[in-house]
Amino acid sequence: MAKKRLLTGDRPTGKLHLGHYVGSLKNRVALQDEYECFFIIADLHTLTTKPTKDDIAQLRHNIFEIVLDYLAAGIDPEKSTIFVQSAIHQTYELNLIFEMLVTLPRLTRLPSIKDMARAAQMDDEAIPFGLVGYPVLQAVDILLPRAHIVPVGKDNEAHVEITREIARRFNRMYGKVFPLPKALIGEVPTLIGIYGKAKMSKSLNNAIFLSDDEETINRKVRQMHTDPTRIRPDIPADPDKPTNVVFRYHDIFNPNKEEVEELKERYRKGKVGDVEVKRKLARALNEFLEPIRERRAKYAQNPKLVEEILVEGIRRMRAEAAETMGLVHEAMGMYGVELGRRLEEETPPSPIEA
Ligand code: TRP
Repeated sequence: MAKKRLLTGDRPTGKLHLGHYVGSLKNRVALQDEYECFFIIADLHTLTTKPTKDDIAQLRHNIFEIVLDYLAAGIDPEKSTIFVQSAIHQTYELNLIFEMLVTLPRLTRLPSIKDMARAAQMDDEAIPFGLVGYPVLQAVDILLPRAHIVPVGKDNEAHVEITREIARRFNRMYGKVFPLPKALIGEVPTLIGIYGKAKMSKSLNNAIFLSDDEETINRKVRQMHTDPTRIRPDIPADPDKPTNVVFRYHDIFNPNKEEVEELKERYRKGKVGDVEVKRKLARALNEFLEPIRERRAKYAQNPKLVEEILVEGIRRMRAEAAETMGLVHEAMGMYGVELGRRLEEETPPSPIEA
């Protein structure tokens, strides 16, 4: 039986961090054999808040960084398709059709749209039509390869819900073309940043990146928040407080559970200092990141290969998209599209293809 499909991805706005890893990347790597996987680098989505020529000029670098992060984290280009959104012309085409299948209030009520506007320092009155349409474009990404499952962070759950609604609506109106995809939220839906309080985010300067070197890890762990009420190491305290970042990271990233339990035991009794707890966390993080860094360095040395991986991914995704658009147009039966297709059939093959 054919494998089910998985699609997910990221906007190329910078390097990926540990929050991305536990929220979604880990699931992606683990599911590569079970599903036919598509990973989208959503460059068109960045235009919703960063549309200037300078913003666009950044994309080349950012796309490269994100592919390196994918490959470093263990996404295998032999098994999975990695592609860049703007290279898939069917994306623009299906987006217009999907725009008719969702109401404006449904989109404007989403908190995520205003959150993104705020993060881009944009007043509500300045929100472009395209930012309101962000989830529609995301639905296109998910449904073009007719994906069944979408590993995403908690912040994207509502967008997958919109995708299901659009798929359901399309299928009812025109015929069954799309599966109803499900969001798969990672085991750590929102990772706390290194200073506590907010979730990990590049723009809040509280992130640990997959590409951070050992020195950087050691420094960031030293800066991490523990328990502000514990001003001396001999004060007994509760290591399981949600705001104790160092222990939260031990829970998530230290595979040596006995060591973590032993540290917590002594912490409760006031018999361990922050320095030791942090030193052990830094070691665990460095051990976790070391194979990721090695793979990253290998690919970083070979930018030609990285580009080839993307071009091959685009080729595969275009073939899937063409098949889906065939089904979409067959279901909808637009006369104009039919006429246009006739013209395409008449076009003689180019000398290179012939
Ligand atoms: N919205 C995602 C983000 O927060 C990026 C994205 C675009 C995406 N298209 C997608 C995620 C399709 C999953 C599926 O950056």
